[in-house]
Amino acid sequence: MNQDLLKQKDYWDHQVNDFDSIYARSKSRFDNWIDATFRWDMYVRFDYTMENAEPIHGRTILDVGCGTGRYALEFARRGARRVVGIDIAEKMLAVCEQRAREEHLDDRCVFVHTDLTKYQPDEKFDVCIGIGLFDYIREPLPVLIKMREVVTDRAIVSLPRFWTWRAPVRRARLALRGCDVYFYTKEHIDALLRQAGFKKYTLKQVGQLYCVTAFV
Ligand SMILES: C[S@@+](CC[C@H](N)C(=O)[O-])C[C@H]1O[C@@H](n2cnc3c(N)ncnc32)[C@H](O)[C@@H]1O
Repeated sequence: MNQDLLKQKDYWDHQVNDFDSIYARSKSRFDNWIDATFRWDMYVRFDYTMENAEPIHGRTILDVGCGTGRYALEFARRGARRVVGIDIAEKMLAVCEQRAREEHLDDRCVFVHTDLTKYQPDEKFDVCIGIGLFDYIREPLPVLIKMREVVTDRAIVSLPRFWTWRAPVRRARLALRGCDVYFYTKEHIDALLRQAGFKKYTLKQVGQLYCVTAFV
């Protein structure tokens, strides 16, 4: 793993509980209010992804940067035939594996410790997602090219918007914690998707984010 990825891995291995509590809404009342006010787009992004991945039942799905498995496990609950979640942070993957076992979803879910660009699956997936991933990727093109290579139908990704008041605040806040974060314009996304070989795509602005469904 290069220095950049090691930094990311380290950051995320320390963020497991904090990050997951955004979904669990298990923080203090005040912090839950902060999340609902400033991070509501994360909840809308979840619904966007589930809707745009349909039909889920019977399909195969790759979740890149699966974190604590909130998406991967939901796909399995909704009847996906096989879900593979990959992540560079082992502590995130440990949560995924424990939850999959507890919910008896481990016959359909596999979690792999790897960086996407090094991942060599011997299968292709109907759907590939990268949610909350491109925020932390210095070179997004190789990642999108790899997604394009392993998917047969569509990729669903989220990218944080460049022109928002929160972008510089977030960049500074995460830099203090040793985590670099990257932002995107529509033009940049258009160029990246074309260079990666996606034929067409739809883009939806959701709060501070762009949610994109790109078709093969
Ligand atoms: C913000 S979390 C998002 C987790 C999950 N997708 C979600 O939205 O709930 C970003 C995750 O991407 C992982 N990650 C970052 N760079 C990665 C890479 N190159 N390959 C695989 N995972 C990566 C991090 O370890 C972290 O768990």
